[in-house]
Amino acid sequence: MIEKETLRKKIDAAFAFAGEQLRCLVETCPDYFPMYTTGGKWKHTGEAWTNWCEGFLGGQLWILYERTGGEWFHDRAEHYSRLIEHRKTDRNVHDLGFLFWSTWKRWYDLTGDAAANRVVIEAGQTLALRFQEKGQYLRSFVADESLFIDIMMNVGIIFYAAQQTDDDNLWRIATRHCLTTRRYLVRGDGSTAHEGIFDAATGEFLRQSTHQGWRGDSSWARGLAWALYGFGTAYRFTGDPRFLRTAEICALYYIENTPAHGVPPNDWTEPDPKLPYESSAAAIAASGLFNLARLTGAPAQAWLYRDYALQIVDTLTGPEFLANETPGWEGILKHGMYHQKKGLGVDESVMWGDYFFLEALSKAVKHV
Ligand code: GLY
Repeated sequence: MIEKETLRKKIDAAFAFAGEQLRCLVETCPDYFPMYTTGGKWKHTGEAWTNWCEGFLGGQLWILYERTGGEWFHDRAEHYSRLIEHRKTDRNVHDLGFLFWSTWKRWYDLTGDAAANRVVIEAGQTLALRFQEKGQYLRSFVADESLFIDIMMNVGIIFYAAQQTDDDNLWRIATRHCLTTRRYLVRGDGSTAHEGIFDAATGEFLRQSTHQGWRGDSSWARGLAWALYGFGTAYRFTGDPRFLRTAEICALYYIENTPAHGVPPNDWTEPDPKLPYESSAAAIAASGLFNLARLTGAPAQAWLYRDYALQIVDTLTGPEFLANETPGWEGILKHGMYHQKKGLGVDESVMWGDYFFLEALSKAVKHV
């Protein structure tokens, strides 16, 4: 049983620590967009694989501004958001939701600035250009025939752009993408595949595959966390009960297959994983579960999701995960994982882990 007063103190301490780490990062490496640490240090020459993380620094600064009202955070949040504005027309990645929801959408929500909203809308319109009519999905950055589960976290920005501009075609694209992902990447037990491979010429679905998980038929934890959160967002926009059900079976898979502390390994089905934790998946799941608790109409489910999310936050704000007792560590949350097979960001801090951790904290604080 979590003691609420104690958890509140842990959350306050985590926010204070995050503010210090971010200030240090921004002052020592100005205008640098880190992705993952190496030996706890943000600046290194390690490969990126793809460029999807440039919104998470600005996003963390917006969250800190929202919490503290500090002018420095506001100024830096705007600055790091402006640095990525040109990416609103980037057609090379499937990640424009990650980039712009965390930055310009937060900016708009906090200020009501119509110019910021136009940037978010344009990013959503650009992302929709990845839609493959044959196959009915938004293609991943890898190839035309590739669909990633991760795109469920980005498709929300297309629903948003559709809503804001009254564009039926954008709405159709976003809806069809979610239905295709649900059909081919989410399994009956609530587990998810990382990637679907299609015949780009005919649109026929061929097989499940993976890059960051163990193998094609396995359950990569972060991918499932993206699905849990992303299908919840799709339901929030559409009210389509199929998307809520999908988010909920993913949530139950997560809860049933993860140790009681709430942090999964990189892949649930990998035998004898070398490392016990993928903390960024836990941070994403916690934030998504807080959303689901609000979205589900069933009080018992709401209680389960909220309670489990608080358990994750309790674990992640402890000394095993929060880096505040690890001298010289530059990230906020330890034991994250980027790409195990490529050896990138293995047992390190990762920018999205820190971002979703802070997002989860700002939701948790309302319940303690
Ligand atoms: N590219 C998204 C992820 O690594 O989860």
